[in-house]
Amino acid sequence: MRGLKDKNVLVTGASSGIGKAIATRFAAEGAHVAVNYYKGEEEANDTIKQMRAASLAAGIAAGSLKDMTVQGDVSKEEDVSTMFEQVISTFGGLDILINNAGMQIQGASHEIPLAQFDKMIDINMRGAFLCARKAIAHFLTCGGGIIVNDSSVHELIPRPEYVGYTMSKSGLRGMTRTLALEYARDNIRINSFAPGATLTPINPWKDDPQRKADIESHIPMGRSGTPEEMAAVAAFLASDDAAYITGQTLFVDGGLTLFPSFRTPWTG
Ligand code: BGC
Repeated sequence: MRGLKDKNVLVTGASSGIGKAIATRFAAEGAHVAVNYYKGEEEANDTIKQMRAASLAAGIAAGSLKDMTVQGDVSKEEDVSTMFEQVISTFGGLDILINNAGMQIQGASHEIPLAQFDKMIDINMRGAFLCARKAIAHFLTCGGGIIVNDSSVHELIPRPEYVGYTMSKSGLRGMTRTLALEYARDNIRINSFAPGATLTPINPWKDDPQRKADIESHIPMGRSGTPEEMAAVAAFLASDDAAYITGQTLFVDGGLTLFPSFRTPWTG
């Protein structure tokens, strides 16, 4: 994709799942990638290994790309400040932020523990904002930059027992649109991609054939998405191929947001 080579990229929550696939894809595109993680240093190192293999496979000479791991809890302002300082000083700048870190809990809305609800809002929504504002402050000093947020189909569609998750992702939608408008004249583009059911560790049902089949029966295309399919869209939104797109969410969901129950015609 155009415009990713030699860009400095920070991917939050890149020790597993979609974040790991995004970090890998950017390395294959010739970008320098900082892998943020909260827990799981070993997994973050594994992301780096996977990135190096992917860039080699893409014909990029070994050692020609910078990479680093950076620990930090995106919901903590001090951690976010330190993380940005480390990345910017090690790479000499930052061009692209991928707000990917997130968590998910499920439970009856009148019963879910408030502490868990707060934590999810803190990570998924406030954390994305803390990182976005740091990135924007930097972008304003160097002529622009790009933010891509990992949202969810639930920024749009409600799902029982997912109230906190749905609130955090629809909040992210509001953030994406607001910041895109606010900084449109500053050469800063801000977009989201919205995964549907994806085969990642955040979704343990992927290893339970019966639950997986049940979930996939609701997806118009009849299958879950892969982390790589999400990463491709994140890379596109960050690339120059998307140069005229800002404030948008691209749904990557096999048709899940298309009112799947209408797929087979109703009588009456
Ligand atoms: C969630 C998945 C869920 C999917 C569709 C995603 O955002 O992470 O757990 O299966 O939305 O509901």
